[in-house]
Amino acid sequence: MATASDPALDEAQAPRRLGLGIAGLGVASTLFLPGVERSPHAEIVAAADLRGSALEAFAAKYRGRTYSSVAELCADPAVDAIWIATPNQFHCEHTLIAAEHGKHVICTKPMALTVEECERMCLAAERNKVKLLCGQTYSMSPDIQAMRRVAASGELGRLIAINSWLYTDWLLKPRVAEELDEARGGGVVYRHAPHLIDTVRLLGGGRLSSVRATVGRWMPERPCPGNFSAYLEFEDGTPATIVYSGYGYFDTSELTWGIGNRMYSDAERQTVRRALRRGEINSEDAKEGMRFGAAVADTASRGSAHAAAQTAGTRAHIGWFGITVASFERGDIRQSPNGLYVYGDDGRREIPVHGDRGTGTLEIKEMHDALVSGAPIIHDGRWAMATLEVGNAIVRSGRERREILLAHQCALTTPPAEN
Ligand SMILES: NC(=O)c1ccc[n+]([C@@H]2O[C@H](COP(=O)([O-])OP(=O)(O)OC[C@H]3O[C@@H](n4cnc5c(N)ncnc54)[C@H](O)[C@@H]3O)[C@@H](O)[C@H]2O)c1
Repeated sequence: MATASDPALDEAQAPRRLGLGIAGLGVASTLFLPGVERSPHAEIVAAADLRGSALEAFAAKYRGRTYSSVAELCADPAVDAIWIATPNQFHCEHTLIAAEHGKHVICTKPMALTVEECERMCLAAERNKVKLLCGQTYSMSPDIQAMRRVAASGELGRLIAINSWLYTDWLLKPRVAEELDEARGGGVVYRHAPHLIDTVRLLGGGRLSSVRATVGRWMPERPCPGNFSAYLEFEDGTPATIVYSGYGYFDTSELTWGIGNRMYSDAERQTVRRALRRGEINSEDAKEGMRFGAAVADTASRGSAHAAAQTAGTRAHIGWFGITVASFERGDIRQSPNGLYVYGDDGRREIPVHGDRGTGTLEIKEMHDALVSGAPIIHDGRWAMATLEVGNAIVRSGRERREILLAHQCALTTPPAEN
């Protein structure tokens, strides 16, 4: 695919669709591949995984080429960009391999494990003149972009606070060893905090100055961070709080008209929790049941009909991820069933938000626009490095019970995307 690193290509030079290679056909791939399929801007051409069953399923579905290593995938000349969805501890290594092969990269969250890894990824992309987009966070959704537009319009005055709450069943879902091991990027801070941090940073302009937080590890069957409460401060003093729990009791979708990314019904949560406590769930098998190409779906793997209904629901409302309220001098904004509620001096109005909200479609469009017209990537490497820094500061602040000052923050330079 021809790329436009500096000047924009005109319509006549518009490239063929981006040839996309997938690194890691796990659970994450089942979430973004349907969105990529819907995108007019990409074609799924190849994949790499260690599991032969996943590669067979991929070849059967997409007629694409399959490889047992990311290096081989990156050597495929039909691949323009690699979507890296391997486990967290490999994001840096696999991004470096892709960049050295001249491939653009879409890396799922979290970007990596440390700021140092993120720095190496950014430098590799810059050195090889490839684009690096760190996606699959809910901050990319049109809802959040619409919130940015209202904030930037100034109609409600100055931003005075952002508060975001997310209660999920992350810990109840099937989790393999690396997902519970902080040294390999396990636990809810690495896995889910990027959604909240990215959202807050997008709405507040990007540059946070400090973090004070507490992290909890309160589920013996899941010995990893399971909840956190964090107070973040922007450079201009604007406060933000992010509150997360993954223990699967209360679920914030109860407060958002039932819309959310909840996996289990209430009854299924009880069943799964009891089975977890009795040690009756084989997490490896259950996780396998959720991955690309899996044939079997038991309750632990799929949450049965409830998950199917949720999946259908989140297609239209993918921007929903807990409750985020942005407060201004003269009003508040939050997500509504059809877009946004704006609360001002004259009462509440709803702004409809349209467009494909699906993960996959959004990242491909942002990458495509960057390559074709030179549009800036919002969630680029430097942006995601700053988000990762905040996540790591949350853990450190909890451990040391003090405020942590941040040193790698960057400002948001792009205007909000149009609806
Ligand atoms: N599970 C989710 O709901 C979800 C959602 C969004 C993003 N993510 C992110 O996606 C990533 C993967 O998470 P997951 O839940 O899909 O895990 P997973 O274990 O289901 O998938 C990882 C896949 O990578 C493969 N893999 C492992 N090492 C490899 C290697 N060296 N080379 C090639 N393939 C390799 C595995 O065989 C597996 O198919 C994580 O970074 C996670 O944060 C997960």
